Amino acid sequence: MNELEAVSRITELTVQLNKYNYHYYVLSESLISDQQFDLLLKELERLEHEFPHLAAIDSPTKKVGGEVTKEFKSVKHKYPMLSLGNTYSEEDLIEFDNRIKKSIGEHFQYVAELKFDGLAISLTYVKGKLERAVTRGDGVQGDDVTANVKTIKSIPHQLSPGNYPDEFEIRGEIFMHKRTFEKLNDKLRKELELKGLDEEEIAEKLYKNPRNFASGTLKQQDSKEVAKRPLDAFLYFLYSDIPVADNHHDSLKIASSWGFQVSDHYRLCPKIDDVIQFIKEYELERKNLGYEIDGVVIKVNNYLQQEELGFTAKTPRWAISFKYKTERAVTLLQKVTYQVGRTGAITPVANLTPVLLAGTTVKRASLYNADEIERLDLHEHDVVFVEKGGEIIPKIVGVDLLQRKADAARVTYITHCPECDTLLQRKEGDALHYCPNENGCKPQLKGKIEHFIGRKAMNIDSLGAETVSGLFDKGLIANYSDLYELNKEVLLNLEFEVGDDDEKKKRSLKEKSVQNILDGIEASKKVPFERVLFAMGIRLVGETVARKLAQHFQNMEALQHADLATINNIHEIGEKIAGNVYHFFRDERNRAIVDKLKRHGLQMSIVEEEGVVRSSKLGGKSFLVSGVFTISRDEMKKIIELNGGRLVSAVSGKLDYLVAGDKMGPEKLKKANDLGVRIISESELKEMLN
Ligand code: IVH
Repeated sequence: MNELEAVSRITELTVQLNKYNYHYYVLSESLISDQQFDLLLKELERLEHEFPHLAAIDSPTKKVGGEVTKEFKSVKHKYPMLSLGNTYSEEDLIEFDNRIKKSIGEHFQYVAELKFDGLAISLTYVKGKLERAVTRGDGVQGDDVTANVKTIKSIPHQLSPGNYPDEFEIRGEIFMHKRTFEKLNDKLRKELELKGLDEEEIAEKLYKNPRNFASGTLKQQDSKEVAKRPLDAFLYFLYSDIPVADNHHDSLKIASSWGFQVSDHYRLCPKIDDVIQFIKEYELERKNLGYEIDGVVIKVNNYLQQEELGFTAKTPRWAISFKYKTERAVTLLQKVTYQVGRTGAITPVANLTPVLLAGTTVKRASLYNADEIERLDLHEHDVVFVEKGGEIIPKIVGVDLLQRKADAARVTYITHCPECDTLLQRKEGDALHYCPNENGCKPQLKGKIEHFIGRKAMNIDSLGAETVSGLFDKGLIANYSDLYELNKEVLLNLEFEVGDDDEKKKRSLKEKSVQNILDGIEASKKVPFERVLFAMGIRLVGETVARKLAQHFQNMEALQHADLATINNIHEIGEKIAGNVYHFFRDERNRAIVDKLKRHGLQMSIVEEEGVVRSSKLGGKSFLVSGVFTISRDEMKKIIELNGGRLVSAVSGKLDYLVAGDKMGPEKLKKANDLGVRIISESELKEMLN
């Protein structure tokens, strides 16, 4: 390989690897397998070894394991960030109290406060301005996450003038409110579903609890992303070389008066019994808080007494945490049922005698998969322990063996689909069982129709899941193509059920809703081809893949008749997806559905937008678009592609044209100049097209 070729390949690999890293670490999605990633990385390493002067300082080969967090600056803490000793019982606390009395006598007080379940943060303020926010790290040094922390609304960037020291440090906990967590995780689930991921993959990618989500968020490199996932913070400890108070309780009040968010839930406790009282109160009250706590922190109030007590190697002797036991309920397993998802994935569910746990009634618990049932060695009518843990869906953590009847039978996993009786399959290395009967299994069929009408697909939002279910159950639709044969009369006469298994109600549609549904169905005929393709629900064909297929084949006819190799040869379309697409069209039932969609006038080919001309004027030349133009960058890119240009995302010696707009980065411009790349303006590009 000569040097010119090396430049081009290195650029190409760098762009690709950076993209994969970004998707993996920031968007939590893998575009390629680890093995494929390593192959590309090795190739880049080899080239950089051969042409060392071409190796960029920020090359993906230089990031340890590609971990984005490694890119945060590491900062040494002025005062080490210690952890606390844990206690779990009243006896432990009384022992702690006795140790303290032995050391400093009887005259002291405690402050009891909540132990927030988040991530510790240390904020440094200089002359009232937030200078630095550093994570705990290993306690000695942590990551500088200032840009991310600045997105947290309750953390002041600049304090109003006040009586604070020129420099001080304040520590606290960053966390995510429970409601924010639920909302964002739901959103993430929907996005993953639309991308075609199956249940197991989704479960892996969803955040397990608010703490986990907060920590994933704080580690993001792009603070714009962080701002989209609102975090919050409580501050609970002040460090300053010049003392501002002689005790912790006053410090909390003072910190609050400077503009910091200090929790209202703390209390001065003269005796350990008062601490125990506080702990008991909050054991009940915690479910009413909008955020998670996992215990109570107890600190000796007076600073001189804290100093006298000192530290052990890892923890202060003047403070301790009391951890609440994870709430646990005991109940009876009534039966195990099995749910079938859109993709055919089977999820076993434990149906329980209703029991109150952490403020809600629990009737069901997820059993995840066959391995979990085996791990628990679950038997029929077992007395089980249920916990909520950090997760929202309760889970069974154990079985009370003493209460198991001698003749109780072991719960055996089903072999056939509970809905259609097809023999289930379990692929090697897969934890889940699947029902392979995708064209004959009710919940899978209904799920496909629901996916079809979804917002990012055909966007028939006037039609809900319950109406779809009703239409399906009454035999009025068997697949999504039948939606186009519905009429007013059928819809007005439809009776369907709403609500869950425990409380079902009968409903019918009003004239206005019927009209909305019919209008929505009609409007969907204008939805572009690429979205029709996505809506069809071919496994693993998410939005991006659908767009690629549409662009490559231009119309349904060509895609339908494409051979496997042709589909597989499209850039970034792997074997698995290509196989799914190919086999989808070999199935005559699918072909009949597509034919019906065609007959009803859905978009079956890419439609050129008005005013955009297709030509080969740019004849395979490469273009990079940078800066601000009179049209959006996306439009500009589209015009280039439609006229035969190729888009690249980095400046290299091989780049033919850099289209430079306003406010483009000076470094890029310089690099292009140095490499002798032709730099053109928006109007020069337009001239090339005329
Ligand atoms: S005081 C030396 N107060 O718990 C005193 N910590 O296991 C250090 N935490 O790393 C901490 N709420 O992340 C303190 N009200 C609170 C707290 C709290 C949560 C966390 C903190 C710390 C860990 C100790």
